[in-house]
Amino acid sequence: MTVHFIGAGPGAADLLTLRGRDIVASCPVCLYAGSLVPEAILDHCPEGARIVNTAPMDLGQIMAEIEAAHAAGHDVARLHSGDMSVWSAMGEQMRRLRGLGIPVSVTPGVPAFSAAAAALGTELTLPGLAQSVVLTRTPGRASSMPEGETLTNFAATGATLAIHLSVQNLSRVVADLTPAYGADCPVAVVYRASWPDERILRGTLSDIEARMDEGISRTAVILVGPALSGEGFDESCLYSVDYDRRYRPQCAESPWSGWAGD
Ligand SMILES: C[S@@+](CC[C@H](N)C(=O)[O-])C[C@H]1O[C@@H](n2cnc3c(N)ncnc32)[C@H](O)[C@@H]1O
Repeated sequence: MTVHFIGAGPGAADLLTLRGRDIVASCPVCLYAGSLVPEAILDHCPEGARIVNTAPMDLGQIMAEIEAAHAAGHDVARLHSGDMSVWSAMGEQMRRLRGLGIPVSVTPGVPAFSAAAAALGTELTLPGLAQSVVLTRTPGRASSMPEGETLTNFAATGATLAIHLSVQNLSRVVADLTPAYGADCPVAVVYRASWPDERILRGTLSDIEARMDEGISRTAVILVGPALSGEGFDESCLYSVDYDRRYRPQCAESPWSGWAGD
């Protein structure tokens, strides 16, 4: 018996990986975080599967479900939104499962920030503008931030920021970022990326608050940084005509000439 943690993707049911779909189809028990996991994914569960929405449950109740499945020898598909590597609460479940000696596997999913970038049609790492993406959040009711992980510290890098769980703190985000990025820095707020009711708001640090509407109160990623402009960046060397590289040696003397691939 194994508990399979599966990233269910950002919302569109067809953004589940094929591996995730196949595991869901093979498990007689499915626990899903119903606040953000689309119900259409549950169509992949086998007939007669026990399907439990864990949104109203506490950790002890979730573990009780898993332990019951374990006692019955039933594999469990554990679905969380996006990818498991960020803000999934997988860590605390994994710690308990390891303590109980219950085997686990992890299948990645499409995270919200990449679905948001796709909705914008934007590369977040444009040469000359930004080569790093910081996935972060602001403190919330249930979570404080470790010392040092402040927006002002991240802003000092000039990287593209993908700020989660924070749309309700937009004025704080704007106040913290404006000194480093400047009032003209582009901002995009992507609400429910890939869901049918997806919305995109674009603006700058100076006007994004005025462009917001009350309908967007959660489930949004705030993307900030010069790369959001999509302009004024360099072309990468990778595809430049005279760039000598393993897959495209430029002359007989190239260290890559005759390279057969490995
Ligand atoms: C608990 S976290 C889950 C993150 C998820 N594990 C991931 O890989 O993206 C929930 C936050 O992710 C963001 N989020 C999740 N789904 C989203 C979507 N479809 N569009 C925009 N933001 C989303 C929002 O910031 C939301 O408050």
